[in-house]
Amino acid sequence: MVNTGVTLCGIPLDNPIIPASGTFGYGQEFAKLYDINLLGTFSFKGTTLHPRYGNPTPRIAESASGMLNSVGLQNPGVDKVISEELPALAKVFHKPVMANVSGFSVEEYAEVCRRFDACDQIGWLEVNISCPNVHDGGMAFGTDPHAAAAVTRAVRAVTKKPILLKLSPNVTDITEIARACEAEGADGVSLINTLMGMRFDLRSRRPILRNGTGGLSGPAVFPVALRMVWQVANAVSIPVVGMGGVSSADDVLEMMLAGASAVEIGASNLVNPYICRDIVAALPAAMERYGISSFESWIGGTKAWQET
Ligand code: SIN
Repeated sequence: MVNTGVTLCGIPLDNPIIPASGTFGYGQEFAKLYDINLLGTFSFKGTTLHPRYGNPTPRIAESASGMLNSVGLQNPGVDKVISEELPALAKVFHKPVMANVSGFSVEEYAEVCRRFDACDQIGWLEVNISCPNVHDGGMAFGTDPHAAAAVTRAVRAVTKKPILLKLSPNVTDITEIARACEAEGADGVSLINTLMGMRFDLRSRRPILRNGTGGLSGPAVFPVALRMVWQVANAVSIPVVGMGGVSSADDVLEMMLAGASAVEIGASNLVNPYICRDIVAALPAAMERYGISSFESWIGGTKAWQET
């Protein structure tokens, strides 16, 4: 009998499986398909201070073993999330949820987090400083250690809930950004957000995405994500949530071996809406296959190799 439980910033999870923000809405659509309480938790759609329609379409493009999105943070705004989405979620999900927060200024990040701080249903605040699809915010905060530190400091000041900064892979040294967040009081980091990419339509000679560029996710990015999770886990002492191209129980175990305390699953939900349920079900047998009775000694277990 294996133990799939993990602890994320002091909060216990039945298992490390977390559908990633932007691929699971506010939970309602998936709750119609299966009992979402079998998940560790999930991270809801990136929420901003004001409602947003997102970017003009087309905002999805296909790619080999992946996809590009340029959604542009479409969401109903923090007040509607608090007054409508969270009460609706309480009817179908009985665990602490992860709130994903986006912003266009340090003050906006802090204000959204301040409002979410009063919500008992919210366990963690995942502060997204890495959205590549908006022009005056998002990734701009996650590609400069000083800006990442400023957001972390401002958010830290308004909440006692665990805060995880969601990091961008579109940097030279992701460990520098992770360390800057840790130094300002982050309880954890999550990574990677999408890799900036582009596709052209050969007939129109224009980008397929109306926004020009978008973020690449899906199995194509898994080895890049794994490398960055491993680098960051070796650079900071706070928990790391790994994500990027995860689509099987074995991928989850590999992410955790690289140092992830929990694992988010994103693009795969859009290919198979049951993928997270199926991975939760497959996890015990996968653990047994590799002789893992619990995750304690498995997380970051590459250290023995590194010391040889
Ligand atoms: C989006 O809404 O554009 C995606 C969010 C993200 O990549 O951070």
